[in-house]
Amino acid sequence: MSGVRHLYVHLPFCAHRCGYCDFVTAVGRRGEHGAYVDALLGELELERGVLAPRVETVFLGGGTPTFTEPRALERLLGGLPDADEVTVEANPETVTPELAALLSRNGVNRVSIGAQSFQPALLGVLERRAQPDDVRRAVYVLRDAGFDNISLDLVYGIPGQSAADLEADLAEALALAPEHLSCYELEAKPGTRFTHAHGAELERQADSMESYFERVVETLTAAGYRWYETANFCRRPGDADGRDLRARHNLGYWLGRDYLGLGVGAVSTIEGLRRRNTPRVGRYLEALAHGRRPERDLEPLGEDVRRRERLLLGLRLDEPLLLAGLDEALDREALARLERLGLAAHARANGTETLLLTPRGRFLGGGVTADLLA
Ligand SMILES: C[S@@+](CC[C@H](N)C(=O)[O-])C[C@H]1O[C@@H](n2cnc3c(N)ncnc32)[C@H](O)[C@@H]1O
Ligand code: SF4
Repeated sequence: MSGVRHLYVHLPFCAHRCGYCDFVTAVGRRGEHGAYVDALLGELELERGVLAPRVETVFLGGGTPTFTEPRALERLLGGLPDADEVTVEANPETVTPELAALLSRNGVNRVSIGAQSFQPALLGVLERRAQPDDVRRAVYVLRDAGFDNISLDLVYGIPGQSAADLEADLAEALALAPEHLSCYELEAKPGTRFTHAHGAELERQADSMESYFERVVETLTAAGYRWYETANFCRRPGDADGRDLRARHNLGYWLGRDYLGLGVGAVSTIEGLRRRNTPRVGRYLEALAHGRRPERDLEPLGEDVRRRERLLLGLRLDEPLLLAGLDEALDREALARLERLGLAAHARANGTETLLLTPRGRFLGGGVTADLLA
C-alpha cells in the first residue's frame, strides 16, 4: 500500500474566529505553532509509507496557514514532499512581501486567498479582519513575488447581500484576473451564534439563492472562465499559456482518488477506509510528542457508499463520469426521466458508458444527483 498522491495538511490557527466558520480552528496560540509543526512532521513520518514515491499535490488548508509563525511555517514547507501543485490558503491581511517570498522559496506554486466579499459592510457581517483593499494588495504582492496561479474564494448569500452586491463582488474579483475562483453559497449551521444573529435574514434570502448561483455562473462564464465544478471556475488554457488551471488537489477528491490528511481534524481516505483525526490540538500534540498516531475515528466505506460518493462527486464536474462499476448506485428510470427533461446526458461509445449533467442539471445540482441515486 504505497500509492497515495494527494496530501492535505491542516493548520488550524487563526487570528480570531469568524462567526460563520465551522472549520477546525484554534485562536492565537502562537507559542504552540512550533510544536504543532513538529507534530505534523512526526505524523508525516508515521504515514510516509502510504505515499507514492512522487506526490502530485500538497494542500495546506486551515484555519489560516499563513497566520502560522513564519519560522514554523518555513520548517513545515521544507519538510513536506515536493509536488507538482503546492497550494497554501491565505487570509488577505496576512499576505506581506516577506510571506510571499517565504512561500515562493519553499516550493509553493498556488495561493488561494479567502476574499469572501469586497463590500466592507458584508465583510463586517462575516466578522472578517480583511478589508477589500487587503484582498487587492494581497493579489498584487503575490504577483510581484512571481505567483502565476492565484485563486480567490467568494461567498454569496451573506445576510443583507443584494443581487447588486453580488454583481459588484464578481466584478471586483474579475478585475484582479485570478487564474481560479471558488464561489460558495454561505452555509450557516443551525445552532451557531451566527445563525442566531442572522437567522431571519438568512431565511428571507433563501429563495434568492438559486438565482444568485445562476448569476455567478453566467457572469464568470461570460468573462471566459470554465465552470469545471459546481462551485469552481478557472481560466481556460487559451488564456493561460496552455495550462490546465483546475485545482488539481480538489480534483483528486472529486475524482474519488485516495488522499492522506495530516493535522487536527484532518480526514484521510485510503483504500476504502476513512479516518478523521481528533480535532483537539492538545490531544494531537500529546500523541505525536510520544511518537504515537493521534486518536482518530475510523469509518470503513462499503462498496455501496463508495459508488454513491463517486456519483455525487463526479457529477459536480463538467466532464463525463465513467459509469463502469457504478451501475448498482444508479436509478436507470430516473436517468431516463432526467434525460427527457434535458438535465442529464448519457452516452455509450466503444463499450464505455458515461454520464454528464447538462448545464441546467448542474444548476439544480444536489436535487438531480439525489434523484439519480438508486
Ligand atoms: C477553510 S476556509 C479557510 C480559509 C481562510 N482561513 C479564510 O478564512 O480565508 C476556506 C474557504 O471556505 C469557505 N467557507 C468557510 N466557511 C464557510 C461557510 N460557512 N459557508 C460557505 N463557505 C465557507 C470560504 O470561502 C473560505 O475562504
Ligand atoms: S480565518 Fe478562515 S478558518 Fe479562520 S475562523 Fe475565519 S473563516 Fe474560519
